[in-house]
Amino acid sequence: MQIEIFDSGYKLACRAADIFEETVKANPSAVLGLATGASPVNTYKELIARYNAGRLSFAGVTTFNLDEYCDLPQNDKNSYYTFMKENLFDSVDVKPENIHIENGNAADFDAEAAAYDRAIEAAGGIDLQLLGIGTNGHIGFNEPADAFTDGTFRIRLTESTIKANSRYFTDSKMPEYALTMGIASIMHAKKILLIATGGAKAEAIFNTVKGPISPRCPASVLRLHRDAVLLLDTAAAALL
Ligand code: PGA
Repeated sequence: MQIEIFDSGYKLACRAADIFEETVKANPSAVLGLATGASPVNTYKELIARYNAGRLSFAGVTTFNLDEYCDLPQNDKNSYYTFMKENLFDSVDVKPENIHIENGNAADFDAEAAAYDRAIEAAGGIDLQLLGIGTNGHIGFNEPADAFTDGTFRIRLTESTIKANSRYFTDSKMPEYALTMGIASIMHAKKILLIATGGAKAEAIFNTVKGPISPRCPASVLRLHRDAVLLLDTAAAALL
């Protein structure tokens, strides 16, 4: 696992955008695994700036998002579909038909999850997977558990995740379930890029890098990946 520490969020986002740019320039039809939440926002801003400057195009890429809430209308202001439109997709030339986000309102969640895994496989697998990390060490919505998870599945969110994310749900109740890629889905990506900023992530980063490799800290599994890069700010790296 490669660890890089930055003294500014801007420098960190530029480094993350560099890795995206390298991936897309090397393969204009790259398959990108994307993340939501606060962590990737500045990276998406930088990617939009580079797109606007004519430095890179997303016209040939295919995207798969990590996760989506269940039982939340797709156009809800807090859905990850809305997040991705607002923070990236509406501002770059990615083709709508190449965008994939789990359908959190599917009638049959198991069938939806299986179809999502088949679509990733049919696209040739993920070339670059972007991740944030939860304060409990989750990646995607793979919460601490007794065993590492496999492909896409429906999960009941933990109290700590509900507490961390309820800040966004000011006028509605936060969903308790989500569809998420599993740990095996994430580990199959050719390259993984995890972004963590702020002191609230320091303990999770310590457990990821120095704790046991255990499903109790799902991100610790990234130490077994042959091309995982952690981009941290000094606050998130404070306990290393
Ligand atoms: P955040 O969430 O980027 O909003 O901190 C990360 C996560 O929960 O995976």
